[in-house]
Amino acid sequence: MRLIIATRNKGKVREISEILKGLKLAVVSLGDISFKSDIEENGRTFFANARKKAIAVSKIYRSDYVAGEDSGLAVGYLKGRPGVRSRRFAGPCAGDEENNLKLLRELDGVRQSGRRASYYCCVVLARGGKFIKKFEARLPGFIAGRPRGNNGFGYDPIFYLPQYKKTAAQIPLKEKNKISHRAKVFGKVKRYLLEKKTIKPDIFSASGGK
Ligand code: IMP
Repeated sequence: MRLIIATRNKGKVREISEILKGLKLAVVSLGDISFKSDIEENGRTFFANARKKAIAVSKIYRSDYVAGEDSGLAVGYLKGRPGVRSRRFAGPCAGDEENNLKLLRELDGVRQSGRRASYYCCVVLARGGKFIKKFEARLPGFIAGRPRGNNGFGYDPIFYLPQYKKTAAQIPLKEKNKISHRAKVFGKVKRYLLEKKTIKPDIFSASGGK
């Protein structure tokens, strides 16, 4: 049995494969299956984008499970922005640094309570072109006053985790991958597949399906 992750991002697929270890399931990306067409992320919600990706791919690869994923950053003070526009917050071709600077400018002078934020991740599981289930998870934190650290990507240098007293870019990637919104959401996908008994634990793996 295969689970296709509807993304070309190799880093994400590596992270997700690690989380889904212990299942008799081959985790593959769009690159691995030579899926050529581009799926435009033009939905108004994370769910709409995740669903669009999952359904589009599963209409073609009908016997596989497909997971569509969309994630981003939501800041309460900015009424949920950058939200679905996280990747292109400072413009269609903006890089991480420009996005971070724009966010810091918008929060200039805002005190800690207004700087509450969370990473959010939505996953839609589909098969045979049909929606199966939606999964979601958050990682709460605060937007720091300035960037710190070199690990991670995106908003990590300004995403402050009070439990570590560090930004997400200052903690090792392995540590972030244990607590991240993506880790939590794919943990739920794993439990679902095991509970439904659609996928069996791989008793020969070190984690034995756990
Ligand atoms: P996408 O899910 O690949 O469309 O990415 C959405 C955007 O949200 C990324 O480009 C980042 O700007 C932001 N984002 C999502 N997850 C993270 C994370 O774990 N760290 C930092 N930024 C993130």
